[in-house]
Amino acid sequence: MTILNLAPLAALCLAVSALPSTLDHRATTPSLASAEVVGLVSDPTWNRDSCTSIGLFGRELWTCRDSQSSNAFISSSASWTDFNSSMLPKIDSAGVLEMYGDNSASEAYFPVQADECGPSAAGGCADGTRYAIWQDSRPMIAGNGSSSNAALYTWIRRSHISSDLSVLDPTPATSLYRSDYAMGLTSTQLPPVTLVNEYFWPQDSIPYGTYGWVQNGSYSYLYGLMTSVGSIALARVPTASVEDPAAYEYYTASGYVNTPPANDDFDAVVPNAGTGGQGTFYYSAYFKSYVWVGIGAIGCNADFYVATAPAPEGPWSTPARFYMGEVGTASCGAYSQQAHPELTNDDGLGNYIFVTYTKVDAGYSTPLIKITWVLVLNPGHDLVSLKQKMEALAASSPNCAEILSKYRNKGDVDQIGEIRVRWGGKDKQFFPKETLVTEENCEAVLRMLALKPGEDVLDVGLEKSFSGTGGKK
Ligand SMILES: *[C@@H]1O[C@H](CO)[C@@H](O)[C@H](O)[C@H]1NC(C)=O
Ligand SMILES: *[C@@H]1O[C@H](CO)[C@@H](O)[C@H](O)[C@H]1NC(C)=O
Ligand SMILES: *[C@@H]1O[C@H](CO)[C@@H](O)[C@H](O)[C@H]1NC(C)=O
Repeated sequence: MTILNLAPLAALCLAVSALPSTLDHRATTPSLASAEVVGLVSDPTWNRDSCTSIGLFGRELWTCRDSQSSNAFISSSASWTDFNSSMLPKIDSAGVLEMYGDNSASEAYFPVQADECGPSAAGGCADGTRYAIWQDSRPMIAGNGSSSNAALYTWIRRSHISSDLSVLDPTPATSLYRSDYAMGLTSTQLPPVTLVNEYFWPQDSIPYGTYGWVQNGSYSYLYGLMTSVGSIALARVPTASVEDPAAYEYYTASGYVNTPPANDDFDAVVPNAGTGGQGTFYYSAYFKSYVWVGIGAIGCNADFYVATAPAPEGPWSTPARFYMGEVGTASCGAYSQQAHPELTNDDGLGNYIFVTYTKVDAGYSTPLIKITWVLVLNPGHDLVSLKQKMEALAASSPNCAEILSKYRNKGDVDQIGEIRVRWGGKDKQFFPKETLVTEENCEAVLRMLALKPGEDVLDVGLEKSFSGTGGKK
């Protein structure tokens, strides 16, 4: 066994911090270890903005807003992207994750209805106003009792806007669309869309489902933006009954109730469940939390915020900014932040997540960014499990892979040797400069680290352990 003296490098590639125990379901704020623009998601046929996505039978299905081709302008479109053999986005050598699929040139993916100035494909009205049938959030999978079929639901507000984008009706009705995926579709066909109910949520009600969703067990939890108070409300429904408005329950200060609260009822507010601007909810096993990732507020920027909660109802941590993407040169240069849990090879359960936003220059583009979170240490760890967690991170971290590649032979496994804590911000008179973590002091050291997350540095010694067959020279 060779000991590599990698402490400074290891500290770089194993960004480590300690956070209060997540076992007591206290909310944590994930922090950024690294962010890397890994490519652009683009469809060679369509220039379009505001894309969301969901994993579906080994591919990713995307839905986007205003879509322009050489001969068409439709208010929504959809596409597929593929995964490679590592179940990661299949980004080509030019850095493009290519989207493909057969969109109609004459009809939007989410069809514009006759009383929405349809059948125009983009909802344009004769008086210059427009019904902008734009999805804010990704399709929700329901009814996956089958290995070959899936129903995907998208709630969309019937937004009526003027030519300067101002809103003519702040609380429009919400339509429910269903996309049906069946194995018989060819590889370029998109799941056909059916309008379940154009007025699923009537005018002036909370548009549950348009702001995002999470699922647990047989239930779906649907978030909606209360436009008049700028806050988020929550409803739940057995996933099998999504199409039945009578099956919904609404979360309020007195728990779940059967009567929908009014759009301005403060009792319905779930504080910090997003900021009101676009984003994505998902569950993270890594943080043992539900996560919301999105924009800081409705507006034009490429800032990303994150909040977490132990349950869909909260309590949600205050959304905190963790990344600022590059803004395009247009007057509104960036918006529509989204996270894409199923693009990761562990459905977003691990220590990284892919995010996108719409960047606007001469046209739209969709940068794909890989966000790696700082390792969360739970004071409950003993030294063995702490080392295992760090070894797993070393094995999966691209930064580590690069640094270690010059030392590594095929089949070698990195093992964590010594771990030392360099104490920061503590009174030098009473505190040692550094402490070697041992079986005996592990818990106590982690508890000390958890007191002021981010102040102290862990130096991690990596050892190379040779596999049985390869490597030995
Ligand atoms: C439904 O579950 C099966 C089995 O777990 C899985 O293979 C399939 O991809 C799932 N369907 C969807 C739509 O994700
Ligand atoms: C799969 O794609 C990812 C990028 O999304 C890349 O890092 C990885 O090397 C690729 N794996 C294979 C086997 O091509
Ligand atoms: C999911 O629901 C079950 C049953 O209500 C509950 O015990 C569990 O804690 C929930 N899981 C999450 C992650 O919310």
